[in-house]
Amino acid sequence: MVLELPAPELQNSGSLARCIEERRSVRQYTKVLLPIGVLSQLLWAALGVTGPGQKRATPSAGGLYPLHLQIVVQRVSALEPGTYEYEADSHSLKLVANRVPEEAVQELGIGDQPWLKEAAIVIGVSAKLGDAVRHFEPQPPQGERGARYVYMETGALAQNVHLQSTALGLGCVLVAGFDDARVKEVLRLPSNMEPTALLCIGQRRDI
Ligand SMILES: Cc1cc2nc3c(=O)[nH]c(=O)nc-3n(C[C@H](O)[C@H](O)[C@H](O)COP(=O)(O)O)c2cc1C
Repeated sequence: MVLELPAPELQNSGSLARCIEERRSVRQYTKVLLPIGVLSQLLWAALGVTGPGQKRATPSAGGLYPLHLQIVVQRVSALEPGTYEYEADSHSLKLVANRVPEEAVQELGIGDQPWLKEAAIVIGVSAKLGDAVRHFEPQPPQGERGARYVYMETGALAQNVHLQSTALGLGCVLVAGFDDARVKEVLRLPSNMEPTALLCIGQRRDI
């Protein structure tokens, strides 16, 4: 049986429906600096604390919150280029490495993905995958459930960032085709953390 759903409400249902409709993967950016307030808004939408008990913007299985964000800053006002770590509890950034050369950012992608080096920022999503796997080990299928949850949470986070970018008039693309070893090196990830996604964001060049 096929049930035809009512048409989505796009005119008067607030901005969320418009953002869902307008969201596209955008891979061309201007050279304009992103205001730091915009970066703040994007990180909040990704993993910001939004409620009592340190609850976050993105849901997390068992409230484990295994995801972390490292941001390669290439063009943000009032912020030196470099790699930063997002500290959600204090909604702050910690510098972890100085400016990453453009070529090194470009080489994070599998194949030719120039949007990596052209983005104002690349948000790296990473996870303590082993912790998540161990935490959910007793649940079937053993050894797999924790990893599944990590990738689901990454998807939820990525969509929050996509929609927030759309709401701000920015371009964003999720890059999951990346070289794990290179990403670990550039994001300065400790050995117990694995990269799960990259999000390239900048002022869109097509408008
Ligand atoms: C899991 C996943 C991985 C993706 N990886 C890449 C990628 O490595 N590089 C890229 O340019 N786009 C990537 N994309 C974006 C898709 O190409 C894009 O979502 C698709 O073409 C549909 O277009 P739209 O997002 O504009 O609606 C990825 C999307 C998803 C959901």
